[in-house]
Amino acid sequence: MSVLSAPSEPAPPSPPVAPHTSALAVYPGSFDPITLGHVDIVRRAAALFDEVILGIAHNAAKTGRHLLDIDTRLRLARDAVEGIEGARVEIIPGLLADFCRERGARAIVKGLRHGTDLDAEAPMALANRELGGPETVLLIASPAHAHVSSSLVKDIASYGGDVTPYVPPAVATALAQRLAATPGP
Ligand code: PNS
Repeated sequence: MSVLSAPSEPAPPSPPVAPHTSALAVYPGSFDPITLGHVDIVRRAAALFDEVILGIAHNAAKTGRHLLDIDTRLRLARDAVEGIEGARVEIIPGLLADFCRERGARAIVKGLRHGTDLDAEAPMALANRELGGPETVLLIASPAHAHVSSSLVKDIASYGGDVTPYVPPAVATALAQRLAATPGP
């Protein structure tokens, strides 16, 4: 049964967050690598909130399956959001909800490209609230980026295809270097 059509019990009240003088949002993900779709979400979140932290978090389902190491993902994400006022990049070392509570974040922000994303995001949003985190705000992906994912970019790059329409130039370079260092598919 879909999470969204489950018989409705009243939603639990939003947990209190630590006081914060400005509205902070956390945009978490693996960012392996960051794409122009991710950058678009950061830019739009920065227009809604005073501060946005793009948080590079651990996805247990992807353990040992990242193409880029965390330092490279951090460097590329910092480079990509440089110039977006109010945005910065950090590593989320553990639970997203704990990180948000410690920082007094007002919201978690995620991008939504299609229904499959919603199916994945809805249970995470509910769990993050149950874990003491803030509400999740879902921003609909811009049509120009609605088909773009890190997986798609990695797939194209692994066959030597041109990924420059989908990622910042530094990411395209880093992918080419990383893939040159490993045997092809
Ligand atoms: O880009 P991804 O891999 O789809 O992002 C998933 C991510 C990293 C946001 C999610 O796995 C996450 O929040 N990880 C941090 C650990 C955590 O809080 N897990 C419980 C989430 S309900």
